[in-house]
Amino acid sequence: MARHRTQSKGGSPKKPITWRGLQRIARLYPYLKPYRGEFSVGLLFLLASSASNLAFPGLLGQLVDATSTDPSKINQLALLLGGVLVLQALFSFARIVLFVRVAERALAALRQAMYNHLILLPLPYFHQKRVGELSNRLQSDIGVLQETFTSTLAELIRQIIIIGGGLALLAYTSWKLTLFMLAILPAVVIAALIFGSRIRKMSKAVQDASAESNAVVEESLSGIATVKAFTSELSETKRYKNRTQAVAQLAIKGGILSGGFVSFLILGLFGALVAVVWKGATLIATGELATGQLLSFVIYSGFIGGSIGGLADVYTRIQKAVGATEALLDMLDTTTEPQGGQAFNSNEAASDMALQFESVSFSYPSRPDVPVLQDFSFCVPRGQQIALVGASGAGKSTVMGLILRFFTPDQGSYQFFGTPAEKIALSALRGEMALVPQDVLLFSGTIAENIAYGRPGATFSELEEAAKQANAFDFILRFPSGFHTLVGERGVQLSGGQRQRIAIARAVLRNPSILLLDEATSALDAESEHLVQEALQRLMKGRTSVIIAHRLSTVRDADAIAVMDKGKIVEWGTHEVLAANEKGYYRKLLQKQLH
Ligand SMILES: Nc1ncnc2c1ncn2[C@@H]1O[C@H](COP(=O)(O)OP(=O)(O)OP(=O)(O)O)[C@@H](O)[C@H]1O
Ligand SMILES: [Mg+2]
Repeated sequence: MARHRTQSKGGSPKKPITWRGLQRIARLYPYLKPYRGEFSVGLLFLLASSASNLAFPGLLGQLVDATSTDPSKINQLALLLGGVLVLQALFSFARIVLFVRVAERALAALRQAMYNHLILLPLPYFHQKRVGELSNRLQSDIGVLQETFTSTLAELIRQIIIIGGGLALLAYTSWKLTLFMLAILPAVVIAALIFGSRIRKMSKAVQDASAESNAVVEESLSGIATVKAFTSELSETKRYKNRTQAVAQLAIKGGILSGGFVSFLILGLFGALVAVVWKGATLIATGELATGQLLSFVIYSGFIGGSIGGLADVYTRIQKAVGATEALLDMLDTTTEPQGGQAFNSNEAASDMALQFESVSFSYPSRPDVPVLQDFSFCVPRGQQIALVGASGAGKSTVMGLILRFFTPDQGSYQFFGTPAEKIALSALRGEMALVPQDVLLFSGTIAENIAYGRPGATFSELEEAAKQANAFDFILRFPSGFHTLVGERGVQLSGGQRQRIAIARAVLRNPSILLLDEATSALDAESEHLVQEALQRLMKGRTSVIIAHRLSTVRDADAIAVMDKGKIVEWGTHEVLAANEKGYYRKLLQKQLH
């Protein structure tokens, strides 16, 4: 399985801002569209609050100059300034509330669309991605977009207005001083951008390293039983120590860079400010500039400097948003399992051949050059129990996957009651079957909920009946909370045999026309094995079944046994016939199990 690097908590990696990237972001517009009215009003408030922000330094300068030119205006101007502040406060409040309302609703819709899509993707997709990575898309990547729509976009617009409007007002106040400032500022800005990009690269390296260290935690904790069983706690601790140390070292280097960046900003930007004040002072001395004008000039310059500094941050955040969008769209662009196809009812089907594979070849998409099934032919007549046996890795579970159409054969045909399987709607095809898988996975929740998964909407007495059939009733009632016992995440609070019987109860409740049984490889104790066997026999009785058996004792009564080796069927017959064949592969398997 291809290993994908876990992404850091912050979501998918940044992507350079390209025209194409921006166009892809635009593809998210439909989610925003229903709220475009509110968004536009929010935008107006943003413009208004930025404009009042710009008016502030100018009025402040006038207030100072009124002391010498027209003292009667002092109170008026102060009141005006207060009014501007109140307006700016109101506008900003309205802008934030509106943007958050829009973003939250649009992104909830996007999240739902993503999940709806995700759950319809074909199984091989999930074999190639880590579950953590996929849930990250839903969580962090959408979180990044949320930040973009609630604050980053607003910041960007505000900064552009401040820089553009500020410069215009500066030029209006004193073009000489503005030109002087412009001679210094661009140099500082370019240096800051170069510095900033080095910092970003560094922080990306830190992010990657910390994702790698996190992968150690994720992996070892999800396989904690294995870690303990092999007493590899110490080596895991070491592995984690190395990774975290690497993160720390990188982050410390990054810290030196950030420190340098801040020092540079202090020297560069504030140095520029000192130079401007010096130049301004000389202009005041020659009478070309008023004191208040210099004050507002300095404040505007501060605003502009701050906005330029903020732009670098906004730039990174937009890069992140582009990365997140690409990742989300990649997922949305992956084709789902086909949703169409004809309805199907096996009871009305003319053919009595429930399942038929003819010359099927198959390899997993993640390993296309390793053939798993080759020229595989196999049939299951209606009402019969057919067993699949063979060494580990022979391809038995893969056959189950093909029967359920988790995967599609590369070559050959698969007929379901005489109809080509690909013509039947997946939901109809799978609706005919119930699978008791090799490794039973329960959902966190109660026992009752887990059984009801077989047929949502079943009544409680139906659940009880299914549990009885599955030999699960007694052990369930022995729990203090009975059917309402919580099974823990993935069902860890139940034993293997108990989990299996819950899975059988699920299948009983579903009452499928075809039963697929992938016998657990984990050995059960004699008592629970007996209980599981008994429940299975009851479930299979008179029902078309495909049983993968590891314990050959379980398939003596099957109508036919298909012996598989390296993706092919090498023998076919009843237990008696196959066991009698001295040179046969089945007999070899039997003898191995006896020893
Ligand atoms: N998702 C997958 N991606 C790639 N290869 C896979 C995948 N699942 C299984 N395989 C490979 O396909 C082959 C058949 O696997 P399969 O699970 O069908 O064997 P099996 O007969 O069920 O074995 P077991 O008795 O151990 O359950 C193996 O070589 C396995 O490595
Ligand atoms: Mg298997």
